[in-house]
Amino acid sequence: MGLLWSLVLCILAQAACWGAESPPQQAFSSSPLLSRGCNDSDVLAVTGLALQIINRDQKDGYVLGPNRVHDVWEHRQDSQGSLFYLTLDVLETRCHVLSRKEWKDCGERMLHEAVYGQCKAIFYYDKPKRIIYLPAYNCTLRPVSRRKIYDMCPDCPSPTSTDLSDPRVLEAATESLAEYNSKSTSKQYSLDKITRASSQWVFGPAYFVEYLIKESPCTKPQASSCSLRSSDSMPVGLCQGSLTRARTEKFVFATCDFFMSQVQTPGGENSAVNQSSGSLFRVEQPLQENTTSSSFPIKTTPMRSIQHLPDLNDEKLQGPREKDPQEAFPVQLDLTTNAQGDTLHILGSQQEKLVVLPFPKEQHSAKCPGPAQVTNPLVLPP
Ligand SMILES: *[C@@H]1O[C@H](CO)[C@@H](O)[C@H](O)[C@H]1NC(C)=O
Ligand SMILES: *[C@@H]1O[C@H](CO)[C@@H](O)[C@H](O)[C@H]1NC(C)=O
Ligand SMILES: *[C@@H]1O[C@H](CO)[C@@H](O)[C@H](O)[C@H]1NC(C)=O
Ligand SMILES: *[C@@H]1O[C@H](CO)[C@@H](O)[C@H](O)[C@H]1NC(C)=O
Repeated sequence: MGLLWSLVLCILAQAACWGAESPPQQAFSSSPLLSRGCNDSDVLAVTGLALQIINRDQKDGYVLGPNRVHDVWEHRQDSQGSLFYLTLDVLETRCHVLSRKEWKDCGERMLHEAVYGQCKAIFYYDKPKRIIYLPAYNCTLRPVSRRKIYDMCPDCPSPTSTDLSDPRVLEAATESLAEYNSKSTSKQYSLDKITRASSQWVFGPAYFVEYLIKESPCTKPQASSCSLRSSDSMPVGLCQGSLTRARTEKFVFATCDFFMSQVQTPGGENSAVNQSSGSLFRVEQPLQENTTSSSFPIKTTPMRSIQHLPDLNDEKLQGPREKDPQEAFPVQLDLTTNAQGDTLHILGSQQEKLVVLPFPKEQHSAKCPGPAQVTNPLVLPP
């Protein structure tokens, strides 16, 4: 009887039934915002989709994975869908964004090499029409505190600058790539960019690097004489390499992961994507010029950014910042300052009109933050 009754209710109020297994917690007196639980299954699903779009948007850096949902608000729209205001604690994975791998398929970093941070994202999800859309996001990332890692693990490799101010970093990359090329029977590769570097004392100085490679026009390993590379070609893979010296000997190591496809499908914005659940969603990425109407006086493009800041303890030299979470991980995302909200038009194959509010201030409910994948406080933003 109870089941039948709830089915009837579901038919009467279809829109209220999705996510019915975890009903919204509370509606604020005059605000249309619903405070949701940070461990609700549909919130976790929405979070995963939002990060997937953020990752796909990047041309540089590593794929971000979710560590926990920090805060979440839902705003139901007239159009059956909901606009979510998400605050996510994230971790860099081992995959480069150019691999176009999903965060689920990317390995975790060790604690001593972790890069962590926080993202705010405004995400629209219309389940009945199968539309997802991410009008804006802002993330701040920092490497794990070097001083705290040193206290725990003085022998762990410590990060080194990748800007080639240390010639031994470049040497490690070129030697390891030469080693890789010498074993390659067909193609040869050239160094595109060093993306990470660290050093450690093993039985002598050891340098560890990660770098992007391009295909080289050369067919034989003859490193220096072959510089006819086409500078506009895309990187084809990410390599890990190391160079370790011990008295008279040196040990070189290299392994490379090739990206599945370098072809960026033009107009891929509207292409369908496969989700973990196996169901298909249409992805509406902002179509730059045509996303926002003139009733909404903002530009979409600069509302999508990821900033990298130095390790918190480095900055402490300039003042005690660690105390204030807003300053430790400054992430702001307001599409509007109008408390009544502004209208955002999405033009795609289906038109949607969304009401956007200023990004809600955090209001820690008992259900947020959610459980973290990596619980070490060194990688959790305050
Ligand atoms: C989704 O995955 C299925 C099987 O895994 C595949 O046949 C299909 O082409 C995929 N669709 C897209 C759009 O990638
Ligand atoms: C924007 O939309 C209008 C009408 O839908 C279309 O004529 C115009 O070409 C579009 N502009 C861009 C840059 O897509
Ligand atoms: C992201 O947040 C930072 C820090 O609050 C702010 O300076 C920056 O303007 C924000 N970027 C966007 C695109 O909102
Ligand atoms: C989060 O949700 C999962 C599955 O719904 C549950 O097993 C787990 O205990 C929850 N964790 C917390 C901290 O509530």
